Amino acid sequence: MMETVSVELSARAYDIHIGTGLLARAGELIGPLLKRNRVCVVTDENVAALHLKSLQAGLAADGITCTELILPAGESTKSWSYFERTVEWLLTEKVERRDLVIALGGGVIGDLTGFAAAVLRRGVGVVQVPTSLLAQVDSSVGGKTGINAPHGKNLIGAFHQPLMVLADIDVLATMTSRDFLAGYGEVVKYGLLGDAVFFDWLEGQGPAIAAGDVAARIAAVKRSCEMKVAIVERDETEQGDRALLNLGHTFCHALEAATGFGDRLLHGEGVAVGCALAFELSHKLSLCSQEDPSRVRQHLSNMGMKVDLGDIPGDLPDAGALLGLMEQDKKVINGQLRFILARGIGESFVSADVPRDAVHSVLCEALARR
Ligand code: GLY
Repeated sequence: MMETVSVELSARAYDIHIGTGLLARAGELIGPLLKRNRVCVVTDENVAALHLKSLQAGLAADGITCTELILPAGESTKSWSYFERTVEWLLTEKVERRDLVIALGGGVIGDLTGFAAAVLRRGVGVVQVPTSLLAQVDSSVGGKTGINAPHGKNLIGAFHQPLMVLADIDVLATMTSRDFLAGYGEVVKYGLLGDAVFFDWLEGQGPAIAAGDVAARIAAVKRSCEMKVAIVERDETEQGDRALLNLGHTFCHALEAATGFGDRLLHGEGVAVGCALAFELSHKLSLCSQEDPSRVRQHLSNMGMKVDLGDIPGDLPDAGALLGLMEQDKKVINGQLRFILARGIGESFVSADVPRDAVHSVLCEALARR
């Protein structure tokens, strides 16, 4: 079973293959991109233990040899020191301009490896093999690569589109339920930002997706990728519409900063809570009906996901301090906060015209519900 979403970016066009058994078919799918039969794979310790052998076997079946760099798992790997280590390793492996590098892992490995490929010899090809739901529906697609700086997340990076994305649905079976549902937060985001029919479908199919129904998982990943691709094709370098992909993210980044970017709140969990708050804010500004935020919250809670600030363990700062954290966001322009708001489910838009008081009041109400 394999579906393909094509990304039409003229010289940077590529395919996203989504299906089962794709690691076993890696050589057949990637082989036509290679000028010689060897690749370098960057992965992490957790993913290597689960999936590296399958990828190696899939490549070997088509006569492709590989060498591997296995890095520690976790967000702290997205740093200058591991970036340097990755680039140095690729140089030691004598990776040439026409070779390609495979990123086997979640968002951390995909972003780090993509960035290393972007700068190595001024750009070598990268194939993304995302192994988390979040990476399959978001970070592996669209060419954003980078690392974190002591000043903040993803502050150093480059746009570098992959040559191919292989999203093997089988690998999702090894995810913890918490990590899977965090990735599902990004799936819900696509329905909320631009496709009400998809959101309706998720309301019905969400439990099957969470329970491991393969056809439903393929359909959800495919539709999410189609949504992202349509936006990236319009606005590859985020001059305008691509910001729609940040629905829920202004709230999310403040909450992640307040909780130390750690286990208290995973990124996808923050996106889900952020989407619910963005709909609350849209309602407060009389843009959408009261039913819309209620429906968003209902679906997230039916899925057993974090919905509200009360679902985040531990203390949170007050509304003023959370607003202060939002003002550090990358999306602030001339001191003006930019939010993705919605006129209804599937009808989002970018706004730089949000009164601070309205945001403050949504946060106060959400904190009072704790
Ligand atoms: N994750 C948002 C983007 O790729 O633009």
